[in-house]
Order: sequence, then C-alpha cells, then structure tokens
Amino acid sequence: MKIGSEAHKELFCRSFMESYQEYEPEQLPWPQLDSVTLDRLKAIPFWEKAFDTEREAGVLVSAYAEMVDDPVLKEAIALQGREEGRHAHLIKTLIDRYGIEIRERPRIELSDNIEEAFIDFGLQNVSIPSLPSACLELPVKQASSQSSFLQSLTPF
Ligand SMILES: [Fe+2]
Repeated sequence: MKIGSEAHKELFCRSFMESYQEYEPEQLPWPQLDSVTLDRLKAIPFWEKAFDTEREAGVLVSAYAEMVDDPVLKEAIALQGREEGRHAHLIKTLIDRYGIEIRERPRIELSDNIEEAFIDFGLQNVSIPSLPSACLELPVKQASSQSSFLQSLTPF
C-alpha cells in the first residue's frame, strides 16, 4: 500500500473508527490507593497542565474537524476530537476521584487560525508525549485500545 494514498487514508481512518471503544471514565476500576501512593499522586505538579492540554485538544481537534471537507477524514478527526474531550474528562475524573486540588481552570480560547493552531498544537505536544499517555495508561489500559493506534501516529 502506498503511504499517503486514498487506500491508506481509508484504512487508517476506518481502522481508527472501527477500533474505537466506548467507556465512561467514572465506570473504570479506579484502584484504592494507600496514603503514600495518594500523596505521591497529589504531589505530581502537572495535573492542571494535563487537564488543560486535553481540554484544548478536544476543542481544537473538534473545531478543525468542522473545517475538513473529506468525509472520511472529517469523521475520523471529529471522533478524535471527542476522544480528546474524553481524555480531559478522564483526567478530571481522576482528579476528583483522588481529591487532587487544582485551581479553577480558564476557558479554552481558540486562535482565529484553527488549522495553524491544530498543526502547532500537535508539534508542541510532541515534546511532552508521555504526559497525557502516562495519565491514560493507568486506568484505561484495557478500556481504550483506540487511543494507542492514533497516538502512535499523532502527538495528541
Ligand atoms: Fe489526549
């Protein structure tokens, strides 16, 4: 198969969409943590950044999907936008579940140039690829196999 061909695009998008799994973060088997582990979790200084990054990804990817004309790409990108929103919901569920204190978060403001922001956002987050992945690997390993597929190809 030729990389970048119509067939490749179809296979990529269909594989992503067909492997998507529904789950609700609240329904995951969140483990009880002992006090040492809980204190260690609460002391990690990136929860606000992780939450904001996923919130921004959800809003931005969803906005970008609205601009895409190709119906298969549009559907796949829109699904990824919803998935990014679910990542934010997952992190917020973790924050609430374990009583992690975060400050009130600001509203997500999008750039006027959605396409450029979409590209730049992906590039920026390549530098911290393990941050959201590490968060998601903890409770979602069995529940969400789709994100690993797309995350292997995108920095989100
Ligand atoms: Fe994400």
